[in-house]
Amino acid sequence: MSRRRRIYEGKAKVLYEGPEPGTLIQHFKDDATAVDAGSKEVVDGKGVLNNRISEFLFSRLNEIGVPTHFIKRLNMREQLIREAEIIPVETIVRNVAAGSLSARLGIEEGTPLPRSIIEFCFKSDDLGDPLVSEEHITAFGWANPQEIDEMTALALRINDFLSGLFLGIGIKLVDFKVEFGRIYENDMVRIVLADEISPDSCRLWDISTDEKLDRDRFRKDMSGLIEAYQDVARRLGILFENERPESSGPVLVKS
Ligand code: TMP
Repeated sequence: MSRRRRIYEGKAKVLYEGPEPGTLIQHFKDDATAVDAGSKEVVDGKGVLNNRISEFLFSRLNEIGVPTHFIKRLNMREQLIREAEIIPVETIVRNVAAGSLSARLGIEEGTPLPRSIIEFCFKSDDLGDPLVSEEHITAFGWANPQEIDEMTALALRINDFLSGLFLGIGIKLVDFKVEFGRIYENDMVRIVLADEISPDSCRLWDISTDEKLDRDRFRKDMSGLIEAYQDVARRLGILFENERPESSGPVLVKS
């Protein structure tokens, strides 16, 4: 059997060489990590759910004209994507105070923000993805001012669309993180949405109970992570009653 060439391995995903030039295969692992990667666990079935949820959200975003790297889902754990040069900046959109914003500014978790707030973080596991300003981004050449404007506009459009989509299924989109990449076409550079959007990269709270349906369950040592992700998939209409995501083998490996 021919082995695929592995291009990159991150905390929750592996990228393999794709079938054609300019394509990659994005494989979703079951690994769960806290933001600082200080704790790690394998959560059986998480990769399958994130693959499905991200496929669904990227497809809807493609339909409304948000350019993305997504081409198609290949199987339970993998999707075919366009190869993009990842901009080393995470774009965070916040609607409600939570997580590091609450800690940094002393705003109680759950407080609605006066308007949606965009933040940028430098993508670096070693440094714990520190918050940076547009000054840092342009001075260090991670992205130019025009690209920052484009990332901001796209992030706000994604926020508007996803907030409405989740509201319709009884979920509050508290905040989320997206990544963008560059695709070079002839003499043109296009900015596209890359990576994933899933309960690993969003805060999703039940609209009436504020129950957490996202990776905070792992970060805060709460049980029921996979059930929460299944609930999100079920509400999105992409996981049906009695369907169990494909198992990858043994459960729970603590490290
Ligand atoms: P934070 O409150 O920890 O800064 O996170 C804000 C949002 O961004 C939250 O939905 C989690 C997401 N996020 C990631 O998915 N990966 C990351 O590396 C970081 C820093 C945040």
